[in-house]
Amino acid sequence: MARILLGVSGGIAAYKALELVRLATAAGHTMRAVQTPTSTRFVGEASFAALTGAPVLIDEFQEDSWRGAFPGEESPAHRPLSHLQLVANADLFVIAPASANTIAKLTHGLADNLLTACALAAKCPIVVAPAMNNNMYESPAVQANLELLRARGIRIVDPETGRLASIGEQGVGRLAEPARLLSVCEDVLADPSVRAMPGAPPPSDAQRTGGGTNSARPQHDAGEWSGLRVLVTAGGTREPIDSVRFVGNSSSGRMGVALARAAHARGADVTLIAANVSLQPPEGVRTFAVKTARELMSACEEEFGRCDVLLMAAAVADFRPVQPLEGKVKKQGRERLRIELEPTCDVLRTLAAQRRSNQTLIGFAAEHGASGAEEARRKLEEKGLDAIVLNDIARADIGFESELNEVAIIARSGTQPVAKAPKSAVADAILDAVIELRNSA
Ligand code: CTP
Repeated sequence: MARILLGVSGGIAAYKALELVRLATAAGHTMRAVQTPTSTRFVGEASFAALTGAPVLIDEFQEDSWRGAFPGEESPAHRPLSHLQLVANADLFVIAPASANTIAKLTHGLADNLLTACALAAKCPIVVAPAMNNNMYESPAVQANLELLRARGIRIVDPETGRLASIGEQGVGRLAEPARLLSVCEDVLADPSVRAMPGAPPPSDAQRTGGGTNSARPQHDAGEWSGLRVLVTAGGTREPIDSVRFVGNSSSGRMGVALARAAHARGADVTLIAANVSLQPPEGVRTFAVKTARELMSACEEEFGRCDVLLMAAAVADFRPVQPLEGKVKKQGRERLRIELEPTCDVLRTLAAQRRSNQTLIGFAAEHGASGAEEARRKLEEKGLDAIVLNDIARADIGFESELNEVAIIARSGTQPVAKAPKSAVADAILDAVIELRNSA
């Protein structure tokens, strides 16, 4: 897990940065925070100190009683010479919210407060999440500044469109949701090629391989994953009704993509078969796009023999129209349209029937309510799996479109509940369970 330095600048969205701290620490990262003096008028330092579990710095001349250490680390015996020790120790510096004023200072290299000085001194990757009034955000000055920061390799997390802080105002400028911010930070952490301000040296070999003190890559059981071939399916299949319509489901592919990213970060050789996934595929993962259950089946059959671990997160349609209609069906002249459906092939069951004993097969079951565990256990047995990951689709706050999930990993030896967390953290728990299963096999 990584050491993340949070920079909070002035804006009403500062309160959302508290949720980012909560999610990131729940996912296992350690955090420290620096604030601009203006930001403390929106959210005081006591809140960030309570959630990070560490002192918050605001002023360049303020002494850091922790001497640059992150939670869980020993403070050094010597007093660091620099007030910038904190950013020197960080794996990532995320500035959220980033006001128009702070963005302008970052662009022009000003160092008039601790946050901007940290940004200028940062050798770690920087993520900037703008939040401001829509007219300010759309102004040529802010857009030109963001363009320049992007060109320097700084990751900008675009703000969202919706209701803004001032009553009645709508538009683009809302700070990205904390779970999305965390997921971008984890993407950047997993890809050390994203660097900081120009002039920052390229990552050392130790950093590139995940070693050294600034390790950006999560340090799990990397040895056990190195070279392991992992096949992940994600998204939901679409079965054509005619040339534009389909029978589909609401799976976004986030869970599968999070699994692929996490397995790659641990050193596995990952192939992702993505059914109608609009998310950016993770860096370094071989990705194939498919649409229908039939295409998913043939891509899986192609890859399955080579894999050591199958994570079958895709939502596969159980039925498809028997005969897709030609062109775009017109409603004129039709009182009713009947579509006859036929079953698709059960991909997982078919693959499990061909499995080698040293392969690990994990299914996913989205079930409704109380009987979910029983249903999932039945599928575990009937499909011949090693474990099945159950999530409750009766819950509106987790699952399909959400950045969060809460699951139970059901194996023959028992059930492990995984508390509500970003999908990246849930993915890590699933991968840990895979290794346990392989070690106990
Ligand atoms: N699955 C599959 N092929 C299908 C249907 C499901 O490979 N045609 C896989 C899914 O990817 C998932 C697991 O089987 O990993 C369980 O999927 P689920 O839809 O819960 O199970 P079904 O067997 O389709 O049962 P039902 O939809 O009736 O609950």
